[in-house]
Amino acid sequence: MKFPRVPFSVTLLCVVFVRPPAARAESPAARPPGGDARCERMIDSLLRVMTLEEKVGQLVQITGWHRDAHSGPSVSPEQRALIERGELGGIFNIWGARATREAQQIAVEHSRLKIPLIFGLDVIHGYRTTFPIPLAEASSWDPAMVERDARVAAVEASASGVSWTFGPMVDIARDSRWGRIAEGSGEDPYLGSLLAAARVRGFQGNDPASDSAIAACAKHFAAYGGAEGGRDYNTVDVSERTLREVYLPPFRAAVDAGALTLMSSFNEISGVPSTSNRWLMTGVLRGEWGFRGFVVSDWTSITELINHGVAADTPRAAALALHAGVDADLQSGAYLQCLPALVREGIVPVAELDESVRRVLRVKCALGLFADPYGRCSESRERTDILTPAHVAQARRAGTESIVLLKNDNATLPLARTLGTIAVIGPLAADSVDPLGPWDAMGRPSDVVTLLEGISRAVAPATKVLYAQGCTIEGNDRPDFAAALGAARSADAVVIAVGESREMSGEASSRSTLDLPGVQGALVEAVAATGKPVVLVLMNGRPLSITRELKQANAVLETWFLGVQAGNAIADVLFGAVNPSGKLPVTFPRTVGQVPIYYDHKNTGRPPLDTEKYTSRYIDLPSTPLFPFGYGLSYTTFAYGGVTVSPATMDSGGAVTVSVRVKNTGTRAGTEIVQLYVRQNVGSVTRPVKELKGFRRLTLGAGESAPVEFTVAWGDLVMTTASGRRAVEPGTFTVQVGTNSRDVGEAPFAVAAPPAR
Ligand code: NOJ
Repeated sequence: MKFPRVPFSVTLLCVVFVRPPAARAESPAARPPGGDARCERMIDSLLRVMTLEEKVGQLVQITGWHRDAHSGPSVSPEQRALIERGELGGIFNIWGARATREAQQIAVEHSRLKIPLIFGLDVIHGYRTTFPIPLAEASSWDPAMVERDARVAAVEASASGVSWTFGPMVDIARDSRWGRIAEGSGEDPYLGSLLAAARVRGFQGNDPASDSAIAACAKHFAAYGGAEGGRDYNTVDVSERTLREVYLPPFRAAVDAGALTLMSSFNEISGVPSTSNRWLMTGVLRGEWGFRGFVVSDWTSITELINHGVAADTPRAAALALHAGVDADLQSGAYLQCLPALVREGIVPVAELDESVRRVLRVKCALGLFADPYGRCSESRERTDILTPAHVAQARRAGTESIVLLKNDNATLPLARTLGTIAVIGPLAADSVDPLGPWDAMGRPSDVVTLLEGISRAVAPATKVLYAQGCTIEGNDRPDFAAALGAARSADAVVIAVGESREMSGEASSRSTLDLPGVQGALVEAVAATGKPVVLVLMNGRPLSITRELKQANAVLETWFLGVQAGNAIADVLFGAVNPSGKLPVTFPRTVGQVPIYYDHKNTGRPPLDTEKYTSRYIDLPSTPLFPFGYGLSYTTFAYGGVTVSPATMDSGGAVTVSVRVKNTGTRAGTEIVQLYVRQNVGSVTRPVKELKGFRRLTLGAGESAPVEFTVAWGDLVMTTASGRRAVEPGTFTVQVGTNSRDVGEAPFAVAAPPAR
């Protein structure tokens, strides 16, 4: 094939283009990609000289060619040939300064236009320093901490050549059967939005062009968490109202925080697969929200349009996806294979192709890849910036903040460090693999501090620590039950670690029950029957229906999967070095039959009343959950004063102040997450019984009290009216403030009608 000659100026532009310093200082939120005129001019020049194949190539993303899990992948001969011809935009699942530099060299030194590659990886909760899984971090209700953790992940990943993470996963999830609930921030759009923005800021830093920044990718756009039956990849059927009020807000927050990319989801939404959904990808995302980065498909989701039944064959799937606004093709090969011919035949307009190429190049430019294609492939930084003591300390802190204390009868916890004997039991007690959770990137079991190790380090030298596995996570054999019971009987207290393996959550890991797998429930029962104080430590990627175990244990800690510092973090809480403050970001059902269950449900015409048959309830279960959203105890106690609202009426466009006094009524310092909910009592459409609109982390010494004030502003009350307008409807509202979504004090206020014009 003959290539047109490249004008010197374009070659020069590709090599020496550097962003002006003033621009680099601006935050991504202040300046979405595309605001840079120099980038746009360079892209114009490139588009003028790119061949059709080179343009299509920019839209192609292919997975790296793995050699082995830890020496990293290398480029295959086929990929090398594609890169040399300028027909590959990026490689994902490639990492390591050496491997990425070698691949980049092919693009920048051996391809005609020298356009740099982008290197993607699923950096979901840490790179090598594995942090708590996102659902765990959401339990901290601490966006600042979540941002710091994402920053560490970016520093480490970028040192290893990665320029793009497939995160954050911002899907709202209300069905705990869905395995991917582990990867997101739970059930609430408000908390989910704050954490989505925090992660984007953390990944991209103050300047995406900096060598320590990686492009964020908010995924999976959209409503992937609404899969019917909680079965992964399944159909989603939601109203536009629910889509806009529940599933879309975290994506909007990610876009507003400057997210450079989004990933389209596998599912359909009410008959239209996301990957061919022009209304969503172009109308809402670009038209309404002004997004200027690029959208990548999920893994083969373009050719899956054929299985969905909206495309007859691969060319039609490619044309549909591109037209919808899916700019880059992850792994299906449909764009590479079909787009050149589709454009030549006039089926796909050149302008449509050019627009997608422009978006991909814009992100590469925003990442500074044209200015320095090798900035992120630094073997020296790879040696110094990964798994540093500071990063590991941060992971420990994140672990302690992510733990939720669910039960603590008779102040069983904290345990004394000086107990004579502690029995540490359970299949997860000495496990160094599962605490890494799903999507652990470069996390290594050898970096993990197990619970047994954490406890052994934390106790006094004279304390005896006995260990027995008891049983495996799954399976029905009980070979070690006797040893476990023996250890429990000779101990002063028992810590029993049960839950799920990490493969039981994450992608393609939906479950049909939420019970403890295998014979773990029987192990807990037998250990509890010894009469010793029992502390249940849960490690899992989703809410579990632990109704029985909750009665049997004296204390229960939900620890999720806490990453490399799991054992130290749990020990910090078990022995009281840290007073737990986590709150559930998701409702815990009593049994799987209650799912989907979430706090901001509608009231229905017959709200559940357990004593009334003809109400919205199950006849064989209480209507309340096992634990409500926002629930979590502390080693101290907090008392709330009365809630007041001032003024009593919010003027059009105005705000009210909600005040409450919170007192630490216990004997030690603690942090309370004070939660604010709002209910619109009457609307033109039905409204949730309450919606989270604010929260504060409040640390109080023993006996100390403090006032807490929230502002509820006009914008917080905007909803979709019966006529489909986004507006605030005048009328009466109720604010609720409390320690979780159930235990609240409340006060009314009104919203005035806008003045007549
Ligand atoms: C498929 C998953 O759904 C997505 O979340 C992930 O980013 C890609 N595979 C790439 O690994």
